[in-house]
Amino acid sequence: MDKFFYFNIKIYYTRSDGVYISKKLINVNERKVFMEEKKKTLTGLQPTGVIHLGNYIGAIKQMVEYQDKYDSYIFVADLHSITVPQDKDTLSKKCRDLIALYLACGIDPNKNTIFIQSENLYHANLAWMLECNTYFGELSRMHQFKEKSKKNENFTVGLLTYPVLMAADILLYDTDYVPVGIDQKQHVEIARDIAIRFNNKFGQTFTVPEPIIKESGTKITDLVDPTKKMSKSSDNPKGVITLLDDLDVARKKIMGATTDSETVVRFDPENKPGISNLINIYVSLTGKTIKETEEEFEGCNYGTFKTKVADVVVELLKNIQEKYNQIVSSSELDKILDEGRNKTTEIAKAKFEKVKEKMGFKRN
Ligand code: AMP
Ligand code: TRP
Repeated sequence: MDKFFYFNIKIYYTRSDGVYISKKLINVNERKVFMEEKKKTLTGLQPTGVIHLGNYIGAIKQMVEYQDKYDSYIFVADLHSITVPQDKDTLSKKCRDLIALYLACGIDPNKNTIFIQSENLYHANLAWMLECNTYFGELSRMHQFKEKSKKNENFTVGLLTYPVLMAADILLYDTDYVPVGIDQKQHVEIARDIAIRFNNKFGQTFTVPEPIIKESGTKITDLVDPTKKMSKSSDNPKGVITLLDDLDVARKKIMGATTDSETVVRFDPENKPGISNLINIYVSLTGKTIKETEEEFEGCNYGTFKTKVADVVVELLKNIQEKYNQIVSSSELDKILDEGRNKTTEIAKAKFEKVKEKMGFKRN
């Protein structure tokens, strides 16, 4: 009779577009959740360039939202960065700064596994195994390779094999979803092809990942030329607010942003790109709607509107910079990175051993 009462209910969580997120097993008799299985996401960030307000609004805010839904892995792709020459004296500082900045932006180390790629030796090891299961033709057809190799005839082989290292990053952890910008979609597709080919040839080994192409979150445009995207490669620093900008400098950049001669705070990206960009920034940082913002500033001049936008941007930067300064030189950051390295090394070792065995590397 007892048996009758001991049963489990599975609850499946899916996103609004039907993508499966996680499964919970609930023991009804004890009324408790005893197992929760979240889908895994993994993202690599290159330690190059500054991080600006566009990156924060268009990408980092979304990562902060994902961390509750998924079992998230975030790492600094420092091995990827050396496909083009890097300054050896500043590389490690750039990695540390990048992680500190992400933590300051709200990436929670309790909800994410955070690590530095080069500290986990299995990434480069698996990449070699996968390289020997990937064809030259496939790699030489990658858009990014074609574009970057065109710029300089004397490029390294690393530029060609870069997507295989990326496949190793993804496949080591049985990643379900890889959130990337559209420019990286082809690299996730080749990781899928490599996984499928390997599974067919050697037996089930890797989870086949899917890209999650980041919805074109709000595009933030350059403050000086609002017809262009805000970008780290912009040649006018006045158009770009970086997350570590001095607060007064950031305020001045907003106050000096290009607008138009109409003096009406109205969202109209085509005819009023400057004001629409400032509305986008305000909306993204306050959670208000465009309509609420237009109503809030009805009858106001642009100076008043810009002052309010500058206030919210400066407040954001102040919070981020305070946290960043607390964490960047702290032993807490080392602890997070040590834990990330240890955890991922253990998972990666198990996968790598499996690959070795499947490919015939064993002692007789
Ligand atoms: P990047 O700086 O080009 O390496 O881009 C890193 C991430 O930030 C990608 O997910 C981009 O889509 C996002 N991003 C870059 N620039 C902007 C921008 N101006 N507005 C919104 N999102 C951006
Ligand atoms: N190639 C990616 C970029 O340039 C960074 C990256 C490396 C990555 N490995 C990854 C992204 C694995 C997602 C998953 O942005």
